[in-house]
Amino acid sequence: MLKTLTKAVPLGLLLSAGCILCVPTGFAAGAPRGSLYERLGGMSAIRAVVNDLVTRILADTRVNRWFAHAASNPQEAAAYKSKLADFLCQGTGGPCHYTGADIATAHKGRGVSAEAFAAVVEDLTATLDKLNVSEKEKSDLLEILAPMKQAIVER
Ligand code: HEM
Repeated sequence: MLKTLTKAVPLGLLLSAGCILCVPTGFAAGAPRGSLYERLGGMSAIRAVVNDLVTRILADTRVNRWFAHAASNPQEAAAYKSKLADFLCQGTGGPCHYTGADIATAHKGRGVSAEAFAAVVEDLTATLDKLNVSEKEKSDLLEILAPMKQAIVER
């Protein structure tokens, strides 16, 4: 991804973005290899994804009513982001140990609708596009998350 990123994004933009996805990750140029976690750019890239995604979700009137608790104060927002980052890290083959509730328990009784699930996927796609995650890594991540719909959506 690093190669794609540096090719596709002008240096000035990378620098102005703090070059968050440019932390050395051991990713070698060439065909994608290694875990999805490595190909995405490791934990710094996952944290960048989670930060942008949560900002989008909290501003998205289609879904933000579900996240009043996470939005209630900076500590709750940070705790939610940290859980989500560990979940994505572990789920993509990274070295993290997710300690939160299993995905069905975490969403049980929240009344998440199919429309809300689709909106969150749309927000995630916009985040991945903004961070210049390449098509292969984007579709690999969405493929991991898509089947979770069954456990999350209740109506
Ligand atoms: C594939 C999509 C999704 C994934 C991977 C996911 C993952 C997670 C994870 C890992 C947690 C933390 C659980 C814990 O604290 O133990 C969480 C919490 C939560 N999720 Fe999801 N989720 C998804 C979709 C959704 C959707 C569509 C909604 C509602 C529109 C939603 C609403 C929530 C809420 C309200 C919380 C609790 C946040 C808090 O206040 O701490 N999630 N989710």
